[in-house]
Amino acid sequence: MVYNIGILGMGTVGTGTVEILLNPTGRHPLLTSIKIKKIGVRSLDKPRKITLPPGVITTDLEAIVTDPEIDIIVELLGGIEPARSLILQAIAAGKHIVTANKAVIARYGDEIYTAANAAKVYVLIEGAVGGGIPVIEPLKQSLGANRISSVMGIVNGTTNYILTKMTTQGTAFNQVLSEAQSLGYAEADPTADVEGLDAADKIAILSSLAFNRRVKREEIFTEGITKIDSVDINYAAKLGFVIKLLAIAQAGDTPNQLQVRVHPTLVPHNHPLANINDVYNAIVVEGDPIGQVMFFGPGAGSGPTASAVVADLLNIVGVLFSSGKTEVLDPLLSCSHQEYCEIMPTEAISTRFYARFLTQDVPGVIGELGTCFGKHNVSLESVVQTGCQDNVAEIVVITHKVKEGDFQQAVQEIQQRTAIIKMPSIFRVL
Ligand SMILES: NC(=O)c1ccc[n+]([C@@H]2O[C@H](COP(=O)([O-])OP(=O)(O)OC[C@H]3O[C@@H](n4cnc5c(N)ncnc54)[C@H](OP(=O)(O)O)[C@@H]3O)[C@@H](O)[C@H]2O)c1
Repeated sequence: MVYNIGILGMGTVGTGTVEILLNPTGRHPLLTSIKIKKIGVRSLDKPRKITLPPGVITTDLEAIVTDPEIDIIVELLGGIEPARSLILQAIAAGKHIVTANKAVIARYGDEIYTAANAAKVYVLIEGAVGGGIPVIEPLKQSLGANRISSVMGIVNGTTNYILTKMTTQGTAFNQVLSEAQSLGYAEADPTADVEGLDAADKIAILSSLAFNRRVKREEIFTEGITKIDSVDINYAAKLGFVIKLLAIAQAGDTPNQLQVRVHPTLVPHNHPLANINDVYNAIVVEGDPIGQVMFFGPGAGSGPTASAVVADLLNIVGVLFSSGKTEVLDPLLSCSHQEYCEIMPTEAISTRFYARFLTQDVPGVIGELGTCFGKHNVSLESVVQTGCQDNVAEIVVITHKVKEGDFQQAVQEIQQRTAIIKMPSIFRVL
């Protein structure tokens, strides 16, 4: 039995996918059941790494998604449109979907999965989070016996590369960003990466799978890495931490509540995520009864992401091969959750904080800080006066776990004090 696929996009991931499919020797035997019928691109004149028979590559993407001979559409265009519309058109035409497009799934997952369930087709997304790291299927299947309490990780390779270089070389953010751009690790417009938006797309997907609830992408608190100063990286190191951009989803106070957020975080040196460097990604899942498991690997790239895309293709072909039809969707592969969760407001979340103050070098400032924090139920784990220059003292504080709302109120009050000159940085601590 042979299944025809249509691939939308032959860029970085599309090319990697075609390379695997055209060279199945030594890989899973089911790969020989997959035939590339059409590949849709924007430009026919662009030089391609792989030569395909005439007529396979086309710019008519609508003809691909409606072709009655095609069983599965692999969407690797990127961006929201036309990707979203083509996915919906393909579903309406009864085709299964494989996509690595986290932006579309995080924003339009509701619409896409509702349509897919009605049409009895699968939409598989292993390549959308963590590139080559298998994490979607484990959350859907292998960890299904667990009550998940937390999913957190480093899910954006570009920002991890930048933070790693800032930490190991002491280089400033802007300089490392330009280097990352020249090496191809960062896009010409790096906004989605450095502002944490890409990580927010990914945690929206991971949290909905881990907690079996839909998550409204726009409600996810998102803070990027642009405000991180080398000064804070150095203080963090002295205090036993490394700064990482973490995407975090945790169970909330009530069964329908979740905490979902993306922000720079001081991670203790002995935490498994502290040693994930350069463009690598890692996701730590905690559940009952398994405890803690970590998924680690290349979070992007042609080959690694194509590995995830082809794994999804194999899953669909495996189902089609064994049953020949999909009148009843396999609940372990399809999307079963339909209810939205309530995202906890950040003020209600409890976490530790790191704050750096520039103050006048006068007696009693540390006491003043302690009094203000205490008034708002913020207890301090450590206070370090790190130096004094031109009558300006630098004080770094780490709090115990406190309600974010209480911490923010204390900060507002502290900023009114005449002895406080500036508060250059506040970060959350794991
Ligand atoms: N790159 C990675 O490492 C990575 C990792 C994980 C997930 N992803 C996801 O995988 C997807 C593909 O990423 P990529 O890096 O492979 O993208 P890419 O290199 O930019 O390739 C995009 C491909 O889609 C085609 N295309 C784009 N818009 C089109 C349109 N309107 N009409 C027709 N063709 C169009 C392009 O055609 P031309 O070739 O003619 O320009 C190109 O072949 C994205 O959703 C991305 O987020 C990528």
